[in-house]
Amino acid sequence: MRLTFTSDLWWKNAVIYCLDVETFKDGNGDGVGDFRGLTQQIDYLAGLGVTCLWLMPFFPTPNRDDGYDVVDFYSIDPRLGTLGDFVEFMRTAKDRGLRVIADLVVNHTSDRHPWFQQARSSRDNPYRDWYVWSDTPEPDDPSQVVFPDKENSFWEFDERTGQYYLHSFYKHQPDLNVGNPEVRDEIARILGFWMELGLSGFRVDAVPYLIQNVNPKLPDPHEFLRDLRAFMCRREGSSILLGEVNLPYDELLAYFGDGNGDELTMCFDFVTMQRAWLALARGEAAPLAAALRERPRPPKDSQWAVFLRNHDELTLDKLTEEERREVFEAFGPDKDMQIYGRGLRRRLPTMLGGDLRRVKMAYSLLFSLPGTPVLFYGEEIGLGENLRAEGRMAVRVPMQWAPEGGFSLVEPERDMPEGAYSPERVNVADQKRDPGSLLRWIQLLIERYRECPELAWGETTVLDCDHPAVLAYRCDAEEATVVVAHNLSDKAVDAELTLKGLRSCVLTDLLTDDTFRIGDRDAVELPLDPHGSRWLRATTPEVPPEDASVKARATASPS
Ligand code: GLC
Repeated sequence: MRLTFTSDLWWKNAVIYCLDVETFKDGNGDGVGDFRGLTQQIDYLAGLGVTCLWLMPFFPTPNRDDGYDVVDFYSIDPRLGTLGDFVEFMRTAKDRGLRVIADLVVNHTSDRHPWFQQARSSRDNPYRDWYVWSDTPEPDDPSQVVFPDKENSFWEFDERTGQYYLHSFYKHQPDLNVGNPEVRDEIARILGFWMELGLSGFRVDAVPYLIQNVNPKLPDPHEFLRDLRAFMCRREGSSILLGEVNLPYDELLAYFGDGNGDELTMCFDFVTMQRAWLALARGEAAPLAAALRERPRPPKDSQWAVFLRNHDELTLDKLTEEERREVFEAFGPDKDMQIYGRGLRRRLPTMLGGDLRRVKMAYSLLFSLPGTPVLFYGEEIGLGENLRAEGRMAVRVPMQWAPEGGFSLVEPERDMPEGAYSPERVNVADQKRDPGSLLRWIQLLIERYRECPELAWGETTVLDCDHPAVLAYRCDAEEATVVVAHNLSDKAVDAELTLKGLRSCVLTDLLTDDTFRIGDRDAVELPLDPHGSRWLRATTPEVPPEDASVKARATASPS
């Protein structure tokens, strides 16, 4: 049905922008970002072209895990503003056509949450069963501990009541027990509450942990995800769940809802992300090409969320030890840049040595990889990290709006990067005026991505290429085709590609306006600069490229 190309399935080709209210913009001059500040910057975000904002947790919190430790799911952290400020923000975002989703952190609460305070007060407290308790917990598998620098077990003994409680993450984050129907109802109530205030969905934190290790065991843990999705869609048909499920593809697919697409609407693609870093480290396409070939097609209305960096460490847990070592060596050789033995606490441009050509190529990859791209705030200007900050906080630095900082009128609570990545060198204001800047490049990529629905909707075929540094694939949808090629090496190459069925077509480069004619043997030779990228639309010589897009044709004849 052609109507699927309308915005009903908006998440299929959204551009998601993740930000933390706390580090985006200070609107009241106390050194901490807030909803008023964020609201002032909505026009910037709309101008960038992103279509959906993902807000990291903004709920009241003792802040021992940067807000991922919640004490009240129904209000706003007073440091960030009031519920009134939140509603004003939502109203402004909606006015500019931006959707908003928020982190849903319900695998656990803070140990200071009133539910846990009650639960731990006595064994017969009505809230006792909202958490997972045991007299004799199973022995831990130390390799599975998420934060091995701080924890060595999933269980913590509670003196007062003489039992252990489960904590998949820090010990101050006791796991909620979704085996209890009251907890499941309460989670739905939380979703319902924020949806009433206008949210279009949630980024669901730590999904596998949420549905496992509950008491009593659920006969089908996925039923809870199906129930949540059904509940949301009854209330608002176009709402989504975007899940953090860092599992291999064969295990992950079930989280979309086996073939039906009735559980998580989208899942982050951790596998492609890690293979992309390996490919970048080697300057070779093979690891990424293999990931794209292995990657299963999600159910029809579901989608992959593609990213290169996020707010956490760059986890490399799905690579072999040898591969991980290669990435560490290339992008984070110092011990101080590494974390948990499996990841890097750096942002993208510093890892790529500040080489603008390479950084631009990496983002061209991000926006053209089949799926929905997710940006972490500041990536559009090449924000660096602050290794002096503790652990994963290194990458969660204040946004840099102007040479003097522009984040706050006073000294920001969090330090900004120094040297080559200081606000004087990296900021929005300067890059807005510079046509060659990363910001302008990202804006262009977003525009082109939105104009090429084939990338998000189409059938992807990885193309054989005689040159090991070149990753090339084609995305076909409704008789329209976009061909994408990236040169991962620092040497110019001529890549020969065979494009079946496109004999005599013209390929128009959507980033530069070069054109190439596909020859008789369905072959085309593409020159690629060092770290060069090309997005090419195929058309017959009579059709202007802009008329060949699926979007243009589908809107013209939605039948
Ligand atoms: C997720 C978040 C991470 C957080 C953890 C516990 O992995 O991305 O930042 O610390 O869950 O909530």
